[in-house]
Amino acid sequence: MQVITTVSELRAWRKALYQQGKQVGFVPTMGNLHEGHLQLVKAASAECDVVIASIFVNPMQFGQNEDLDAYPRTIEADKTKLIAQGVDVLFLPAVDEMYPRGLNRQTFVEVPGLSDIICGVTRPGHFRGVATVVSKLFNMVVPDQAFFGEKDFQQLQVIQTMVKDLSMDVVICPVATEREADGLAMSSRNGYLNEKERKIAPFVFQTLKNIRAAVQAGQSNYRLVEKEAQQALDVEGFKTDYVTIRESETLREAQSGDTDLVVLIAAYLRTTRLIDNLRFKI
Ligand code: PAJ
Repeated sequence: MQVITTVSELRAWRKALYQQGKQVGFVPTMGNLHEGHLQLVKAASAECDVVIASIFVNPMQFGQNEDLDAYPRTIEADKTKLIAQGVDVLFLPAVDEMYPRGLNRQTFVEVPGLSDIICGVTRPGHFRGVATVVSKLFNMVVPDQAFFGEKDFQQLQVIQTMVKDLSMDVVICPVATEREADGLAMSSRNGYLNEKERKIAPFVFQTLKNIRAAVQAGQSNYRLVEKEAQQALDVEGFKTDYVTIRESETLREAQSGDTDLVVLIAAYLRTTRLIDNLRFKI
């Protein structure tokens, strides 16, 4: 696996591939790789001739009181996992390489209507940071296809909308959420959980399934379902940020008559913020 740290080196590598007519698959990450990330790599390998992954803990998408400094950095273990998956290139830029003019003077990309709802309410600026770094990475890598997890459902919709709105020539490929045996969605942040919290954590997915069952059984008072689920989470020891039933494509609040729904939850266990979602049809 070739490790590339500069944009100029990356562009030289990319230019050579055009001449060979290779399909390039791209998997952007922030590292601390787990089986969820590796599912994206596997999907990319299955569909593309060449696979490039990136590891960049993007300061622009972290809020002032968030875990940028504490975010787990496990680069050697990550490299071993990517090599085992047969990844061709790892792009590993430093912050200065990505943001040479500094974060405060960086041109940004924002997706109105999607950036400021759900996670965007409690994490202002987060999706601006994500959309900006992903569009920069797309301009650097110029992938044919890029792979994103459904685990971060709102992020996926932000990126799909950005690609359409800005006429970017890249196909976005969603990959299903990878879970632990007890249902907990895999996440780099799960490592923050202590033993007791780790035992409670799967209740998030259980709650999503309970809501799906209630809605599919005909419960159509969605706001009541959300409120009751939030109370159930709080009783278990979570501090719930939101439980919300949405229309999947637009992410507006679900109304009766909608058929393609997604339930999204964000809840804290002490200082660890867990997110998960479940999409279903009625
Ligand atoms: P990160 O949290 O490292 O996730 C990288 C990719 O892995 C994302 O597309 C995410 O949805 C996917 N992923 C994470 N956990 C998953 C799971 N359990 N199952 C399936 N896919 C999973 O998301 C980011 O980084 C950043 O915001 C990024 C897009 C790289 C921009 O900085």
